[in-house]
Amino acid sequence: MIEFKSVKKIYTGGIMNTCALDDVSFSIDEKEFVSFVGHSGAGKSTILKMIYAEEKPSSGEVLFNGEDITHIKPKGMPLHRRRIGTVFQDYKLLQKKTVFENVAFALEVSGYPNSEIRKSVPQILEIVGLSNKAENYPHEISGGEKQRVAIARALVHRPALIIADEPTGNLDPISAWGIIQLLMKINKLGTTVVLATHDKEVVNNIKRRVITLDQGRIIRDHSKGRYAI
Ligand SMILES: Nc1ncnc2c1ncn2[C@@H]1O[C@H](COP(=O)(O)OP(=O)(O)O)[C@@H](O)[C@H]1O
Ligand SMILES: [Mg+2]
Repeated sequence: MIEFKSVKKIYTGGIMNTCALDDVSFSIDEKEFVSFVGHSGAGKSTILKMIYAEEKPSSGEVLFNGEDITHIKPKGMPLHRRRIGTVFQDYKLLQKKTVFENVAFALEVSGYPNSEIRKSVPQILEIVGLSNKAENYPHEISGGEKQRVAIARALVHRPALIIADEPTGNLDPISAWGIIQLLMKINKLGTTVVLATHDKEVVNNIKRRVITLDQGRIIRDHSKGRYAI
């Protein structure tokens, strides 16, 4: 599904250029659950941004379903991004909308009819375990629940892939593990999951493929990996 071929990324500007990725190659199959780990600055977010076609490699290729997405035309971008659900550390919820409305809004902006929205949103809230919080506002729910709303929103287009960048970064260990279990459940339902995290505890409990980055290079790629730096 995803293939990086000798990807190099140099961020220019600032006082010095930064080599964020250096000769990075890997491939991820459909329905895999893959964690990218490494210290802050190792290049994890840069990889996720390239999958989302938000950053381009300085050299090398990034393929999605065999298609080179580094040369994707602006016209093709919405279609590409609709295949991917995104989850971030800081939830990015709309504070003046309820849980239901936050999820519904993602469908409204894509022009879905109300009837479809009324049917779809409760189904998705059920999957993330938030049916009982549908009418609450973000300030009335916990951090873990906020991240569940963000995951629900990421699911509205039934994406083939979820990319989650430090989704547990603001959570206590118990809520964090709940979020990881939810991502594992979504993966079991057939969605590919790519996670970036520096949370050792989380990674060691997932027991799925772990790709370790150090200063922009892949130093380890193990199925059933552990966090080992
Ligand atoms: N937009 C940017 N401009 C310049 N440097 C950047 C930019 N984004 C990231 N970097 C640098 O690239 C390196 C990798 O960053 P990043 O991919 O965010 O790492 P991680 O997510 O593992 O913390 C870091 O040295 C970071 O400072
Ligand atoms: Mg990052």
